[in-house]
Amino acid sequence: MNTVTCIAPVNIAVIKYWGKRDEVLILPTNDSISATLDMDQLHAKTTVMISPDFKEDRIWLNDKEEDIKNARLQNCLKQIRKRSQLPSSINDWKIHICSKNNFPTAAGLASSAAGYACLTAALAKLYKIEGDISTVARSGSGSACRSTIGGFVRWYMGSDKCGTDSLAKQIVPASHWPQMRILVLVVSDEQKKVSSSIGMKRSMETSELLQHRIKHVPERVNKMQQAIIEKDFKNFAELTMKDSNQFHAVCLDSYPPCIYMNNISNSIINLVHSYNDAVNNVKVAYTYDAGPNATLYLLEKDVPAVIGVLDYFFPPNENDTIEYRRGLPIEGVEPSQDLLKKLNLQKHPPGQLKYMIYTKVGDGPKYIDNPQDYLLDNHGNPIN
Ligand code: DP6
Repeated sequence: MNTVTCIAPVNIAVIKYWGKRDEVLILPTNDSISATLDMDQLHAKTTVMISPDFKEDRIWLNDKEEDIKNARLQNCLKQIRKRSQLPSSINDWKIHICSKNNFPTAAGLASSAAGYACLTAALAKLYKIEGDISTVARSGSGSACRSTIGGFVRWYMGSDKCGTDSLAKQIVPASHWPQMRILVLVVSDEQKKVSSSIGMKRSMETSELLQHRIKHVPERVNKMQQAIIEKDFKNFAELTMKDSNQFHAVCLDSYPPCIYMNNISNSIINLVHSYNDAVNNVKVAYTYDAGPNATLYLLEKDVPAVIGVLDYFFPPNENDTIEYRRGLPIEGVEPSQDLLKKLNLQKHPPGQLKYMIYTKVGDGPKYIDNPQDYLLDNHGNPIN
């Protein structure tokens, strides 16, 4: 077998990774926790192929050939070839890699996490590697280590200088908390962003608040793990929101500041708190990565009401031709006059949200057997 195809999931952290103690090995300054999202809605797909006929290593990403010399990519390839169980003659064959996401890059979802997890899982099978592969994915992009596993996942920062113990482990599988749902709200955005890598470097160099965070995250991580194990939504939601807020406070405390959220992101935060107040319970949690899009965590039974409220205050643009509601099928329920009165918020003009993706917690990477679904043909050329 010289060709492997695999799909891998996106993950969204509820306790964020922000800060590296080693930039080359990608070793973090704190543990982090995420949920792996169902691959039926969002995934990266990668085909890897080795052949004695290939003249050089090559990679195509989202239909464009990219530089195989990229340092992070080389990190992954080197580790895989070192751990390979293939005979050395075959191990020396050149490789072709083709990878695509089934979601638009504009969705601002950490596509590199799904991408590197997918690449690592595909390479691990091709080179017959056993055992943990999260450390390999980590050396491509930190958060990618959490996408090599399904369910709720914890990335242990570890203490070893070489990073051998900085790896991801499952807390519970997706089936543990089947009611958990995720709503990704894609916000319109023209802002030029500082990448996560540059942002966290800047925070490490300039933010005093990050030093405070690093001291206190361990406590929060343990509480979060407990909330997940006990399926305690209230604690889960409060910790998620507080951690997102602290992470963005660190970004603002960096110099120059990294401003990832915009006015719409802030309005969504306001809406979530007003909603939780109005229903006198914690029903919804928000979290934001290095961009303006909101990810909401909520339980299945509350989704129709929350979508109804979102549709009311952030109406879709009727003239837009793109599909507004994506992912799992769902209908919103119109909010009552009583609820609207309690919420007492301003309606936004149409089109402030580009679209929403409704999904749930899912499994880790999966191999694809049918050659019709491969991304490379028999000669190792990308199939369009
Ligand atoms: C805000 O994993 O993209 O999404 O390790 O430099 O590739 P590198 O950074 P990356 O950072 C993700 C940061 C985050 C929080 C998180 O996912 O935990």
